[in-house]
Amino acid sequence: MPENIIDLLKKNNDYYSGAKISAELGISRAAVWKRIISLRKKGFIIEAVPSKGYLLVKSPDLSAEYIKSAAKGGLWKDIFVYDLVPSTNELAMSLATKEDLRANTVIIADSQKKGKGRLGRTWISPPGRNIYMSIAFNPRLDTRDATMLTLLTAVACTHAIKKISGLQVSIKWPNDLVISDKKLGGILTEIRADIDKVNLAVIGIGINVNMETEDFAEEIRSIATSIKKESGKYCSRNELVIEVLRQVEHFYCMLINLGKYPLLNEWKILSSTLGKSVKVVIGDEILIGLAEDIDDNGMLILKLDSGLRRRISAGDITLLR
Ligand code: BTN
Repeated sequence: MPENIIDLLKKNNDYYSGAKISAELGISRAAVWKRIISLRKKGFIIEAVPSKGYLLVKSPDLSAEYIKSAAKGGLWKDIFVYDLVPSTNELAMSLATKEDLRANTVIIADSQKKGKGRLGRTWISPPGRNIYMSIAFNPRLDTRDATMLTLLTAVACTHAIKKISGLQVSIKWPNDLVISDKKLGGILTEIRADIDKVNLAVIGIGINVNMETEDFAEEIRSIATSIKKESGKYCSRNELVIEVLRQVEHFYCMLINLGKYPLLNEWKILSSTLGKSVKVVIGDEILIGLAEDIDDNGMLILKLDSGLRRRISAGDITLLR
């Protein structure tokens, strides 16, 4: 049973009469017209032709209705889209604390006032350009396996970006999405856990979608990029969000049903780090060595020049040529 007018118009992909919509949704034709007006106010372009009916011409670039109609059901319980939030991760965490948040809920924002990056950094989040989204999971994973959620999200995002834009993105350990040696996106995972079980995991995804060079702060222009800059084409945020959710669902099911090894293998295939000489900065410590592998918990195994191996759980990596 379709949920709303957008579902019907999208499925039909042609003019759809008011009478049919009213019959399918069990509402009056006047109510159909009222909903069309309210959808137009939200940015949908819906043509109305008296003898033919309604045609969905264009959806807003980031639209809760559109995303829900494509992605809700299956794994995703609730999907919320906001204009401006402090941080989608923070909002998900605070709603979960008040028990206002169901597991497998997605929070998306057009912009963030205090977007958070890894290692306490700021994630610059201007409106109208990018994807800022957080997924709240209640995964019943062992705490030591929580990093799998970050890895799976990175894998899912690379597949989604490839599908929507054709770009082949790779993953720089632990979770940077990179292309042409520049950062296109990142993932920030925050968890609430008991000693052995994860109770809540919030996976924050930031992807630079339609940023132009001048939209980036000058100091990061040489190290950051966007889908638009790399492909030369505008990319629909709606379609990308929907594809990211599809891919996350796919790899989440893979993790739950098949365990972590298929996922670890997938991550290794997409990695731009393994087999390279790298510099790792961990607070004040700097290590140089070969990024040999990741272990079963997603930790980087670094082979130092001395031959000793170190397992690293967090840090900043630079690839050395
Ligand atoms: C990184 O530093 O690479 C991780 C960046 C993660 C940014 C995203 S944007 C959506 C979510 N909300 C936040 O405040 N941060 C994450």
